[in-house]
Amino acid sequence: MKLVILIAFFSMLLQADGETIYKNKCASCHESFIPMGQLKENFVEYNNSKLKLKGPTLNQLSFRLKQNIGDPKGDEEIHIMEVVAFIQDYIINPDKQKSVCMKEVLDVFDTMPSLKGKISEDESEEVAEYIYHFEKNSLEKNSPQYTHFDNAQKRAQKEKKLIMVKATSEHCYFCKKMDREVFSEKEVLDRLSKGFISVEVDIDNKSLPATLKYEVTPTYFFLDTNAKQIKKVPGFWNKDDFLEILDKVQKIKKGDEK
Ligand code: HEC
Repeated sequence: MKLVILIAFFSMLLQADGETIYKNKCASCHESFIPMGQLKENFVEYNNSKLKLKGPTLNQLSFRLKQNIGDPKGDEEIHIMEVVAFIQDYIINPDKQKSVCMKEVLDVFDTMPSLKGKISEDESEEVAEYIYHFEKNSLEKNSPQYTHFDNAQKRAQKEKKLIMVKATSEHCYFCKKMDREVFSEKEVLDRLSKGFISVEVDIDNKSLPATLKYEVTPTYFFLDTNAKQIKKVPGFWNKDDFLEILDKVQKIKKGDEK
């Protein structure tokens, strides 16, 4: 009996996880995470001459596959099965007619070579599930460090920073676009961590402090260390415009202090 458990345990250890399979069998062509803004620039303006990628990145694959295959708003378990089945089929029978990446991206590449005979069914399932979850997991890693609103003021006073409150909601397209294209960029993350305490409030689940009034999501509120509103900015902004907003907010604050 014990032996059976031991064998089961060791075979579990031997079965490589999705990330390892990705590193061994896909990473030579598919890099893992590059922020969307840089990818867009690379493919749309530079025809891939800037990053010289050998294939779409994993965050690109993960995002496009999830968006274009099956029903992204339906049951997650079913959606995972649909996307996994697509990936498992694609890597054995690649065909650009089936590809779902943006045209500008696909135009740059030749069709992926088939991995037939080079990957087992179990391995392709593991790696496909890893790709499915990749975008969400990588965005969580590449995002501002959020503080709870109750602690934000204390921290802002102590660290001499301003407060940024993001009002978002679950099915808000432009909130997610900002997360992908702006809040995952190193420049933005550096600026926020240096000058701001960031708070995220999902208004479907939590209410905003009563003093903060919004009409749409996303809305970004900038507050001073007394939690008094300095500026409110609704809607989608690209990286450069958002950096400019951060600049302006910090200048308004400096002006106040004179
Ligand atoms: C030798 C390079 C190479 C390797 C190795 C490789 N790929 Fe690809 N792959 C590409 C290129 C180039 C494309 C884009 C052209 C296309 O769609 O065929 C692509 C496209 C894809 C697509 C389709 C994207 C779409 O637009 O629908 C999937 C899915 C995919 N790869 C998964 C994988 C997985 C999983 C692995 C590892 C098990 C892997 N690839 C290994 C080069 C590679």
